[in-house]
Amino acid sequence: MERYLRTPIKEIIGKHPAVGAVLEEYRIGCVPCSVGTCLLADIVEIHDLSPEDEGTLMARIAAVVAPGQVAALPEPRTRRPEATRKYSYSPPMKALVEEHGRIKRFLAVLPSVIDRFDARSEADRGLVRGGLDFVRSYADRFHHAKEEDILFSLFDPDLDILKAMREDHERGRAFARAAGEALARGDGEGIAANLRGYAGVLSEHIRKEDEILYPWMDRNLSMRQVGELFARFRAVDERFEEDRKKYESFVGRLEDANAETLSEVSR
Ligand SMILES: [Fe+2]
Ligand SMILES: [Fe+2]
Repeated sequence: MERYLRTPIKEIIGKHPAVGAVLEEYRIGCVPCSVGTCLLADIVEIHDLSPEDEGTLMARIAAVVAPGQVAALPEPRTRRPEATRKYSYSPPMKALVEEHGRIKRFLAVLPSVIDRFDARSEADRGLVRGGLDFVRSYADRFHHAKEEDILFSLFDPDLDILKAMREDHERGRAFARAAGEALARGDGEGIAANLRGYAGVLSEHIRKEDEILYPWMDRNLSMRQVGELFARFRAVDERFEEDRKKYESFVGRLEDANAETLSEVSR
């Protein structure tokens, strides 16, 4: 088993596809991940499983890769108690999670904006324009820039998990770009397909950051680095203050408009 811990996960899944299904059960998304050169040992570390889950996961993987053999399983690592282990973020990381909250509220309204979009309506085109402005300015220039320019710079840029996160950002940007081009040519189907693609990438990306990346980063940052992050994020917040307020109120207005339309429809 020790040998497998030092093997890239994609190589293990390639030889033993059932391992991918076992990882999926633990919500460890190595199968759809486009990087996937993480070692099995890294995955156990990054996902910070409970000792019980780690033991069961290892036993199940051992049963797939070496069936019928008595595998020498690694001892689960000692960790903080379960109650304090899950998602207690440092202050700067908490700020990013709150920004995710705003982006998730936008993503929650997006399906009804898409469903009722009429390319002939200037109001609908304006709504999509506003949504794309939120995506480019708030989600990308503000939030993703904080991550890429500040947070990620505290870690080794060659880490697979960071490559995977940057790739998600790029995929989101490509969908937003394509949605903008579809809007310019009045292509309703193109807008819908690309906004749906964007929502799919971002929803999963945010889940990975909230549940895996940020807790793992918090465990690896020193107090001095947390302080540095806090100060640098605050400087960005101050520089972006006017726009931040504008986009926060945009999400609220979008939710209100959506609720009104839905109530009109149900009347
Ligand atoms: Fe991100
Ligand atoms: Fe994020």
